[in-house]
Amino acid sequence: MSNSRPIGVFDSGIGGLTVVRALTHYLPHENIVYFGDTARVPYGPKSPQVVREYSAQDADILLQHNVKAIVVACNTVSAVALDVVQKRAKIPVIGVIFPGAEAAVKATRKKRVGIIGTIGTVNSNAYTNAIRQFDAEVQVFSQACPLFVPLAEEGWMDHKATELIAKEYLFPLTLEKIDTLVLGCTHYPLLKDVIGKVLHNNVTLIDSGEATAKAVATMLEAEGLQNTSKLKSNLQFYVSDIPQKFTEVGERFLGQKLGKVHRVAALAM
Ligand code: DGL
Repeated sequence: MSNSRPIGVFDSGIGGLTVVRALTHYLPHENIVYFGDTARVPYGPKSPQVVREYSAQDADILLQHNVKAIVVACNTVSAVALDVVQKRAKIPVIGVIFPGAEAAVKATRKKRVGIIGTIGTVNSNAYTNAIRQFDAEVQVFSQACPLFVPLAEEGWMDHKATELIAKEYLFPLTLEKIDTLVLGCTHYPLLKDVIGKVLHNNVTLIDSGEATAKAVATMLEAEGLQNTSKLKSNLQFYVSDIPQKFTEVGERFLGQKLGKVHRVAALAM
C-alpha cells in the first residue's frame, strides 16, 4: 500500500536541512514538509522548559499538514523534548539521539566515544544515556561546541578561525583517546572536514542525521508507511521568520536549491 502523505521534519532553524538532505538520499520518493523555527533559533542555549514549549508548537505546525510521521531533526529538541512531541502526535516520531547513539556503539572499537553538541544537548546527557542503553561498557566524553553553529551558517567551513576553534574544543576529547565522535548537532556535518583534520582523520565521525534517515527508512517499512510512487518527491519548507536568510543559506545545508519557502503565522516568543 502506498502512502504519499509527507514526512514532517522540524528543527530550531536551518540546520535540520542536513537531516532532510540525508532523508532525500535514502528515501528519494518521500514527500517532506519541513518547519524551521527561524524566529526563535537558537534552541541550544535555552532552558529545557522553553525548548519543550517551543517543540510542542513546532509539532503542531507539522500536524496541520497531515504528516504520516515526524522526524525531530534538532538534536537539542531530541535531547530534551522528544516525549513532548511523542505525546502530541498519534503517529511515529523519531529523534536523532537514539539512531546516532546506536551508530556510535556499532562503530567504536575501544568503547570510547566522544559527543559534541549544543550546551542543551550536552547538559541533558541524552546521548550518554542512550549509548549506555545500547552498551553499558562504553565510556562517553562530551563537549559543547556552541561556536560551530554560527561558523557553519557563515560558511566558514575551511577558515583558519574554524580550525583554531575546533582544536580548542576537541583537544580535551583527544586526551580521552576516543575512537568515535558523534556529530550531535544539525550544523556539524558541514564542518566534517575540519573536525576530521583536527582529529588527524583517525576518529570515526558519526553523522546523527544520516543514522536517523536510515532509521526512518526502517520504520516506514515496518509500519507499511512507504510511498511506493516513483515520482520525484515534493519538498515544502516553512519558517517562522521572513524566509530570506533561510533561502540564501539553506542551499548549502540541503545540497540543492530550496524553491519557494513559506512563512507561518507568528508564534509566541
Ligand atoms: N538545531 C540545533 C541542534 O541540532 C542547533 C541550533 C540551535 O542551537 O538551535 O541542536
